[in-house]
Amino acid sequence: MTAEEFRRYGHRLVDWVADYWSGLADRRVTPDAPPGTVASRLPAGPPERGESFEAIVADLDAIVVPGLTHWQHPAFFAYFPANTSGPSVLADLVCAAVGVQGMLWATGPACTELETVMMDWLAGALDLPARFRSSSTGGGVIQDSASSATLVATLVALFRASGGRWRTEGIDRRYAIYTSTQGHSSIEKAARIAGAGDGAVRLVDVDDTLAMRPEALRSALDADLAAGRVPALVVATVGTTSTGAVDPLPEIGAICAEYGVWLHVDAAYAGAAAVCPELRWSQAGLEHADSYCFDPHKWLLTGFDCDAFWVADRAELIQALSVLPEYLRNAATESGAVIDYRDWHVPLGRRFRSLKLWFVLRWYGLEGLRAHIRSHVAMAQDFAAMVGQDDRFEIVAPHPFALVCFRLRAADGSASDGSASDDSTEDLMRRLNESGRLYLTHTKVGGRTTLRLAIGAPQTTPEHVAAAWDLIRATADAVLPPT
Ligand SMILES: Cc1ncc(COP(=O)(O)O)c(C=O)c1O
Repeated sequence: MTAEEFRRYGHRLVDWVADYWSGLADRRVTPDAPPGTVASRLPAGPPERGESFEAIVADLDAIVVPGLTHWQHPAFFAYFPANTSGPSVLADLVCAAVGVQGMLWATGPACTELETVMMDWLAGALDLPARFRSSSTGGGVIQDSASSATLVATLVALFRASGGRWRTEGIDRRYAIYTSTQGHSSIEKAARIAGAGDGAVRLVDVDDTLAMRPEALRSALDADLAAGRVPALVVATVGTTSTGAVDPLPEIGAICAEYGVWLHVDAAYAGAAAVCPELRWSQAGLEHADSYCFDPHKWLLTGFDCDAFWVADRAELIQALSVLPEYLRNAATESGAVIDYRDWHVPLGRRFRSLKLWFVLRWYGLEGLRAHIRSHVAMAQDFAAMVGQDDRFEIVAPHPFALVCFRLRAADGSASDGSASDDSTEDLMRRLNESGRLYLTHTKVGGRTTLRLAIGAPQTTPEHVAAAWDLIRATADAVLPPT
């Protein structure tokens, strides 16, 4: 493709993106074609001769778009949001175009230095403890995902707990990892990958708000110590995946300090809220954490993938992960004056992801990002108020951010009885999602089926939320037997 061809088709595709975004509200949120539809429309193999760009774009519209779940749709309320935005997409275009491999400072000085500064900017924007800044003992790095951040935290925690033996000898079965019953599945996966095994993970009991009970953590630590195990890592969550619960960091942090255990705080979703001072209560106690992460790619207008991960002691992280083969040696590394981010995560190679943070932070400014978060939090509170006024529904968990968990009460109006209302709640969700007019997902709370409505798509307005509630109410009329 020549530069002139790229210019022509690039302009065309930028128009395509702008049209896609502006037409989203008129589409179904999820496709209605059965599994296999997209694959069945693709040829068995690649063409022998190159095709025209027109043909490629035509198939993009004809084959791919009808098979999309539209995550940027204003009525996308499923899972957690996965924001993107104009400045983020344009930064990714530059990232792809320059094709920089930022594994070493020497292979990408701008890639490395912009990332260090962006992580410090973000730490300031969220008012994170000073020890996470690069000017102190710590520093930040962009990981692809919160799962990778948890994996890296697990590796360094095992390195520390084993007195360095994890690095040289691997690990035995002695180590224990703690999270609440609501902790994310990536914690178990990290334990597996790190070699500790699923069996190392203790799921600590929670309180009525679904937050970890510190005294239950203490009991689990004591029981393991008594059994000759070595507590290596506690993963606390700010904003659990299921309901958005917030673990009590001050108490958990004090326990981790007392037992000498690494504390990783996973705020994958809710961490973005800390751009708003009034929502920073959720990270009180973070000064105890050894590592912390949140996903700008969830709720901060930065396209996937972009997880922001900080450690309080970068030297320990580097010691745990650094391997320096001859072919990567260079004068800058040997001077000790530069950061080589290859030592801060699992892959060697890395893209220039800080560009999208830079574009997003500059385009929106902190005021713009606060407005983005505040608008979703306000819409979620309004939605919860509407649900609370309808006797057929109950709210089942606190909703300090923009996730509201609710379900149908039992037919007799009692909140306690289980299976009949579970069937109705599941039927309600199925009908809502099949309508294509919104998309939400479910969880289990106290063993009962619960709907999660997560507000976070950049285009969502109070009108979309009101329309969603109208549809939910009307569908409940069809699901529930008349009283
Ligand atoms: C609390 C929490 N941790 C980790 C993750 C995994 O995030 P990622 O897809 O960035 O690995 C999620 C995803 O929703 C999450 O909610």
